[in-house]
Amino acid sequence: MKYKRILLKLSGEALMGEKQFGIDNKRLMQYAKDIKEISEMNVEIGIVIGGGNIFRGVQAEKGGMDRTQGDYMGMLATMINSMALQSALESIGLITRLQSAIEMKQIAEPYIKRKAVRHLEKGRIVIFGAGTGNPFFTTDSAASLRAVEIESDVILKGTRVDGVYDSDPEKNSNALKFDSLTFDQAYDKQLKIMDMTAFTLCKENEIPVVVFDMNSPGNLKKVILGDKIGTLVTI
Ligand code: GTP
Repeated sequence: MKYKRILLKLSGEALMGEKQFGIDNKRLMQYAKDIKEISEMNVEIGIVIGGGNIFRGVQAEKGGMDRTQGDYMGMLATMINSMALQSALESIGLITRLQSAIEMKQIAEPYIKRKAVRHLEKGRIVIFGAGTGNPFFTTDSAASLRAVEIESDVILKGTRVDGVYDSDPEKNSNALKFDSLTFDQAYDKQLKIMDMTAFTLCKENEIPVVVFDMNSPGNLKKVILGDKIGTLVTI
């Protein structure tokens, strides 16, 4: 097993599956089962999930909405996804705790780093909702921040493409995939792996990032076992 403690970043948009908005139950359950597989291998799992299937703060700003307001709405969207994921995980027998960066005591524990680490040590899956709790940050930044805080071995960024390419593989059929890269190479080539805040946090704290296709069942386990799938970004 390559990693003992991970921070799994899931895309909110991917949760839509075949649908135009909201949550596709089939995709949600696929994620839950993939997470169960690695939980049974005693991997300690923290999860951050985006909210793009419900609301995107950046786009709302383009429509004239105040950015701060839009970002807070996006954070609430991540809570909806987090709650859905928590339910899905619990429905197949996993023990979870949901912590929120914005206090909403009736539905989640407040984010407390020490408590999160204790949960992980006890084998509970911890979902970190509401991003960083601050506007002007992305859920990738939240994932990086939580990964640093809980001393995760790695960030596993689950996407719908199977790694980092030199150009958009959905637009260019000749796009070349990287098996591994350093943070500096990714920066020099201006590859968009995460936003710069998230990217810098990972680099400075020497947390590797694996970008992989989360929509193929079984891939998560392969990454944990050290199989060469996706793209590994290291210092
Ligand atoms: P240990 O202290 O390690 O036993 O962890 P624990 O999570 O089992 O203990 P705790 O008594 O803190 O939590 C029991 C349950 O209450 C868990 O499902 C928590 O997620 C939940 N819980 C704890 N604090 C809060 C809170 O502030 N709000 C909400 N909504 N739930 C909470």
